[in-house]
Amino acid sequence: MLTQTQQVDLTLQHLKERVLAIYTPKQRASVERSEDWQKFSERLQTYFPSLMYELDNVYGNNETVLPMLEQLSAQSWQSYSQRAKPLKQTDAAREADPDWILSNKQVGGVCYVDLFAGNLQGLKAKIPYFKELGLTYLHLMPLFKCPEGKSDGGYAVSSYRDVNPALGTIDDLRDVITALHEAGISTVVDFIFNHTSNEHHWAVECAAGNPLYDNFYYIFPDRRMPDQYDRTLREIFPDQHPGGFSQLADSRWVWTTFNSFQWDLNYSNPWVFNAMAGEMMFLANLGVDILRMDAVAFIWKQMGTTCENLPQAHALVRAFNAVMRIAAPGVFFKSEAIVHPDEVVQYIGRNECQIGYNPLQMALLWNTLATREINLLHHALTYRHNLPEHTAWVNYVRSHDDIGWTFADEDAGQFGIHGYDHRQFLNRFFVNHYEGSFARGEPFQYNPTTGDCRVSGTAASLVGLAQNDPFAVDRLKLLYSIVMSTGGLPLIYLGDEVGTLNDTDWPYDENKRDDSRWAHRPRYNEELYNQRHDISTKAGQIYQGLRHMIEIRQNNPRFDGGRLVTFYTHNKHIIGYIRNNALLAFANFSEFPQTITAHALQAMPFQAADLISGETVKLNQDVELRPYQVMWLEIA
Ligand code: GLC
Ligand code: GLC
Repeated sequence: MLTQTQQVDLTLQHLKERVLAIYTPKQRASVERSEDWQKFSERLQTYFPSLMYELDNVYGNNETVLPMLEQLSAQSWQSYSQRAKPLKQTDAAREADPDWILSNKQVGGVCYVDLFAGNLQGLKAKIPYFKELGLTYLHLMPLFKCPEGKSDGGYAVSSYRDVNPALGTIDDLRDVITALHEAGISTVVDFIFNHTSNEHHWAVECAAGNPLYDNFYYIFPDRRMPDQYDRTLREIFPDQHPGGFSQLADSRWVWTTFNSFQWDLNYSNPWVFNAMAGEMMFLANLGVDILRMDAVAFIWKQMGTTCENLPQAHALVRAFNAVMRIAAPGVFFKSEAIVHPDEVVQYIGRNECQIGYNPLQMALLWNTLATREINLLHHALTYRHNLPEHTAWVNYVRSHDDIGWTFADEDAGQFGIHGYDHRQFLNRFFVNHYEGSFARGEPFQYNPTTGDCRVSGTAASLVGLAQNDPFAVDRLKLLYSIVMSTGGLPLIYLGDEVGTLNDTDWPYDENKRDDSRWAHRPRYNEELYNQRHDISTKAGQIYQGLRHMIEIRQNNPRFDGGRLVTFYTHNKHIIGYIRNNALLAFANFSEFPQTITAHALQAMPFQAADLISGETVKLNQDVELRPYQVMWLEIA
């Protein structure tokens, strides 16, 4: 009997042999002497055991896993040996400093290439602006080849190796990424790996019965299986189709969690994993720094379950992560799991997704604006904010998606809030069906069967800027102050920083009309951007407010890292938290002045500088905050 270590050694030896088998003896000798090979074999040795373990978890037998490993090792070596030198340097730097992403210097932005800048060359021309704003991270929304007409904003990918011709070419993309790197900005693109478009050649071949692509997707001859699965599935886009499946022209049924043209990949077929790993390595070698793991919760299906958040989904992401550690260790993952908060955190880990969207904080920011009460936000910051070492939240106010009210009913219950009823209230409030609401949003995917609904709308329209509400600017600055100071990476949905309102044209476009998320995907508004230095304009006030906060954050290590401790202000409208034992933040979520009593401030120093106003605030007496005022106090 071999010991486990001996087995691991033997497998490693075997994998290396397979990788090197393509070389002549002479080539082999020189490869083995190369620095690349040394690095590669070190990383293979470190990470292949976890890769093997995770694949074993999912596929469960050596007959499947060993050939997968052989192919993955060979692909990883090919990929690493072709990786550009500067990327290899970044790899080494990030291996040495896994906390780079938690630095207070980090500030993110996200935009659509076409809507923000026309095309990739146009985007390159905007780099001076990104630097002016202070960005160090830029997420370019889906830019790969996709069907014409409807493509779910590019989330239906027809080829991961071709850029959408309307935006440019793959060389343009490589060029933009290099230019961003030179400007100190890392690039984020989506890894849309739960599904492809129906036009991807895998989909076309699979539907046509090509045995090489057999079982790449879930295609069923009739409704028997789909009906059984549908019993337990959540409907994600009920407006587009009921249940989780769409019918093909030849009357068969295909699994489509999202739109009928987005076919879910079948990861129970191990070759789907390997094929996607190949696409991932391709993206990594373009120079992408962070992959946004799109729709990560949905990648594994199992009859009788919701087919969301299954253990195999996690194992697969960890397996992808292990592949990246071997082939392109500088590349990090960001999870996009818009699910129950207990589930959201499960995706975040150094060996899974190093960073992840914080949909709970996002939803609760809007909740707190509506209710003017910090109860749920305070609870979330106290119990659900702190993450494992070396991992970070991506905190955001708005994204290209709808706002879903993903707080936990259990948490709400502790405050006597009934989850279902409260969500109904929030939906009414944000689509202006509530007396006195300042918000001008649009309903998204109202489901009459369940009563579920989500909300669309830009941040500016949701805080009241559309009708010139006197507090709109301060509300927007307040929300951004929270994402910039609670810990983790703040992400600006570009357009927000100049107060861009809802687009009004989307209902007239037949490719957008049935998806109200287009309301908050407006074009770059030249006029507003031109006003950004003029503080007599709303755009200027918002922009200067955000710029000021970014500057404070980037120059002050008090904002470094991810963790916080909540501070109880004893005023139900004012949130309070402490960062790094050195910064005390307050934000007043109401349109009235609010006070924190001297009593509540007992443990604090006598006075502290407020980084926002530049004034000294006495903490040995009552502190009053103006409507929607934020204070960032240096307490040490
Ligand atoms: C993600 C995207 C969303 C898209 C969906 C399907 O959730 O953020 O915009 O509709 O995935 O790809
Ligand atoms: C659902 C999904 C999420 C997706 C969103 C798009 O909330 O859980 O992944 O982004 O729908 O609207």
